[in-house]
Amino acid sequence: MINYTEKIPNNVDLGRDRVLQRALEHWQPAYMGWWYDMGPNESHNYEVYLRTAISVEPDGWAQFDYVKMPEYRWGIFLQPRDERREVNFGIHKGQPAWQEVPGEYRSTLRRVIVTQGDTEPASVEQQRMLGTSCPSMYDLRNIFQVNVEEGRHLWAMVYLLHRYFGRDGREEAESLLARRSGDADNPRILGAFNEPTPDWLAFYMFTFFTDRDGKFQLCALAESGFDPLARTCRFMLTEEAHHMFVGETGVSRIIQRTCEVMKENKVEDPSDVRALGVIDLPTIQKYLNFHYSVTLDLYGSDVSSNAANYYTSGLKGRFRETKLEDDHVLRDTEYPVSEVVGGKIVTKNAPALTALNERLRDDYIVEIADGVGRWQRVIDNAGIPFRLTLPHKGFHRAIGNFAGHFISPDGEVLGEEAWKNHKFEWLPNPKDHAYVQSLMSGRVVEPGKFANWIAPPARGINNQPLNFEYVRFN
Ligand SMILES: [Fe+2]
Ligand SMILES: [Fe+2]
Repeated sequence: MINYTEKIPNNVDLGRDRVLQRALEHWQPAYMGWWYDMGPNESHNYEVYLRTAISVEPDGWAQFDYVKMPEYRWGIFLQPRDERREVNFGIHKGQPAWQEVPGEYRSTLRRVIVTQGDTEPASVEQQRMLGTSCPSMYDLRNIFQVNVEEGRHLWAMVYLLHRYFGRDGREEAESLLARRSGDADNPRILGAFNEPTPDWLAFYMFTFFTDRDGKFQLCALAESGFDPLARTCRFMLTEEAHHMFVGETGVSRIIQRTCEVMKENKVEDPSDVRALGVIDLPTIQKYLNFHYSVTLDLYGSDVSSNAANYYTSGLKGRFRETKLEDDHVLRDTEYPVSEVVGGKIVTKNAPALTALNERLRDDYIVEIADGVGRWQRVIDNAGIPFRLTLPHKGFHRAIGNFAGHFISPDGEVLGEEAWKNHKFEWLPNPKDHAYVQSLMSGRVVEPGKFANWIAPPARGINNQPLNFEYVRFN
């Protein structure tokens, strides 16, 4: 169990390390300053029905109660240590897992932790205005839950920086509070975390696509030979599942509502659908195309010597590394990677070690395709002849082998002109954004009420009814 009488709740025996405790207690007010500035807009007095982690055991790790978000107990929770754990891949395979940072990997490891840590506050910043246009109290509670947990994920990474990286780590922890999503001078590190999240369709797409990138990165880091990082990421994954649930069900409920309205009114043309105040399916497809493609970029270059080094050094593994049956060294294996050659997409084998980003991206795509299949079933069950598709991997990419090429959603290599002519058939255009915005001009917060453009969920949070008062506004 986690001791909640301490200033910083934790299961890492923080009280025994006074210097570390003082350093983190010094960072805490700066974090609160960031939350007041950049956390959910106008929310500080709301009492929100939130879950808080109370243990790291798989059953009963969370407790639900009303909390004012600035009083949420952001803490440091690591999965318990397995004394027998080893480094499971790379050149150190078979050595006991590291409990301290190996000197030779210090700067690499710090970079990996900072890059992960930077995404956590970034998404809170991206979503901070959405409370003013929520489609229901249930959804408002869910976005706040995601936001406080992203805040906790920042704490998780900052703990590692403070505990294991001395002065450099403390400086990095301060920088994590100084960068701002979308800021021209001091932006967040990764591209997708500087894109705006202007509306709730974008929010659900983000939590489905981009939080799932988070899951895959955390899964790869949960294999790390650096044991404290592995244990931190394992516990973060427990919380992450809810974020993806919010995204998948959010999009699914929007699709469901659109299909209901289309059937009731016997309309199919997108402008007729819009006239009824719901989001037409082609617009949902465009949002999907956008969020999928910018998230694919987060995995980095298809062929990357950094990825090879992270793996060989034992710092970052593959998805489900220990479940894979091979030598876990990968010196003599290959992996298929695509590129554009002479106006065509060709696939060639690359050394498996350098193709690890591409492999993680492919693992991610498998899960994404399943989710999109579940959305499709909602449309099929309504008997509407519309197909949602995942665009080609090379579509709208800014990083890796496809960057600088113009690939259609079908995987056709186009010239720049042809791409420009079709771009806004494939990606949301300013009118699409304006239409979606127009649906979300105010918030719906009467218990049990839902905006016209989204269906209610199948059930409430923690077995509460749908008309439960998930947020008290005071
Ligand atoms: Fe997170
Ligand atoms: Fe998340």
